[in-house]
Amino acid sequence: MTHPFETIAAIGVVPVIAIESAADAVPLADALLEGGLPIAEITFRTAAAADVIARLAEARPDLVVGAGTVLDTASLAAARASGARFGLAPGYDPAVVDAAIEAGLPFAPGVMTPSDLSLATGKGVRVVKFFPAGTIGGPKALDSIAAPFAHLGVRFVPTGGVTLDNMGEWLALKAVVAVGGTWIARTSDIREGRFADITRNARAAVDKACA
Ligand code: 3PG
Repeated sequence: MTHPFETIAAIGVVPVIAIESAADAVPLADALLEGGLPIAEITFRTAAAADVIARLAEARPDLVVGAGTVLDTASLAAARASGARFGLAPGYDPAVVDAAIEAGLPFAPGVMTPSDLSLATGKGVRVVKFFPAGTIGGPKALDSIAAPFAHLGVRFVPTGGVTLDNMGEWLALKAVVAVGGTWIARTSDIREGRFADITRNARAAVDKACA
């Protein structure tokens, strides 16, 4: 099976999703797949997250499903039990990172500073989320922060303020493996059944990432 981070690198964009009802899981997955986007970060910001991951792992194995907003070891355990194939977090929690490493779950903790990056690289982590990417200072900030770690082969997933319009600027950086964002599959679009819009957003993002 392809490593999930290789899939992320190949596609270049990860939809960050807060989904409220497991009943919407399969229609959401089908909308993403139809848009050519076979990956989803299901965030633990809703009570439905673990159920959604479990349903997708079972019903749509073609979709590489990961867990996002993994803020504690309980969420990490729930993500693993549900069948999540990778995980991400907005920040660096040593207990969560240690648990992910121990479990062998590909995990990208969030970093914002060189100190965060030192903690991550010290643990052997080589893929990190750069969050909140836009607020920290955009691609220029990432370029500066990444420079001292380039020889270690660290790759970044900038998230937070990334849009269809600016994703190209991020992907132009060598250190960026993919971008992430909520604009592709918004909670309100899922709730209100606008799956055709999600397919359209996914298709546009994939096309942009390939460009
Ligand atoms: C995340 O958790 O990755 C961010 O909240 C996504 O930020 P966005 O809504 O600006 O895409």
